[in-house]
Amino acid sequence: MTTATTVRAAARVVDAVKVYGRGDTEVRALDGVSVDFPAGRFTAIMGPSGSGKSTLMHCAAGLDTLTSGTAHIGGTELGALDDRRLTLLRRDRVGFVFQAFNLIPTLTVAENITLPLDLAGGGRDQEWLDALIDVVGLRDRLHHRPSELSGGQQQRVAVARAFAGRPDVVFADEPTGNLDSRAGGEVLGLLGRAVRQTSRTVVMVTHDPVAAAHADEVVFLADGRLVDRMEAPTADRVLDRMKAFEVPA
Ligand SMILES: Nc1ncnc2c1ncn2[C@@H]1O[C@H](COP(=O)(O)OP(=O)(O)OP(=O)(O)O)[C@@H](O)[C@H]1O
Ligand SMILES: [Mg+2]
Repeated sequence: MTTATTVRAAARVVDAVKVYGRGDTEVRALDGVSVDFPAGRFTAIMGPSGSGKSTLMHCAAGLDTLTSGTAHIGGTELGALDDRRLTLLRRDRVGFVFQAFNLIPTLTVAENITLPLDLAGGGRDQEWLDALIDVVGLRDRLHHRPSELSGGQQQRVAVARAFAGRPDVVFADEPTGNLDSRAGGEVLGLLGRAVRQTSRTVVMVTHDPVAAAHADEVVFLADGRLVDRMEAPTADRVLDRMKAFEVPA
């Protein structure tokens, strides 16, 4: 008998199925995935192109709905929410970072970071924001516009924006896809620090073993199914695992 430590899941999906299209064009993007993303951890989702990584992230984050199965953020089941409640949940409890930085060009760095809070119209935790600005290293760029920043700096703004409202979980889909390896490494280091120094939860989709090695754990998808998990990944071990997918059965 082993004693399992119960770790709270910041997000999870249970028996997740996602079917796109119908008939001849039907695609089973998720084919019965159950996975939890533990709170306070940095989890990477890896797998070959078309394996369902983005679909899993979108359904887990409430950006898309499952065909069957359930998705949960903390104790909330997303399928039980009406559109208004789902919008509020995404706004208040989830942060997003995408490959394209998606900053507002006419706003300054500071305004971009606090935009979600300003739209929500609630109070802001200035101490948290100050700490965040230091974590992402943007204090001397706060009054610049996105066009005056490098790609890596723009993505750091997007990371700060994603964490600004102290979300339960931040989802990132290929956040380093548009960056060179140095800028990408900075953004990944930053996501890791955000998790370790501020006890946040990050779920990141990537196809890059070097990126995945920044995570605490990697979950592997193939053909819409969860096929493996790896703790304390290194780029070499992740690469070896990915190569195994390519060997014909
Ligand atoms: N809106 C959609 N309509 C139809 N099929 C879709 C749609 N979105 C994704 N798919 C299909 O679902 C499958 C999984 O796609 P998904 O984007 O989740 O893969 P991925 O693992 O993120 O791939 P990549 O590494 O290329 O980004 C693919 O076969 C894809 O063609
Ligand atoms: Mg994808």
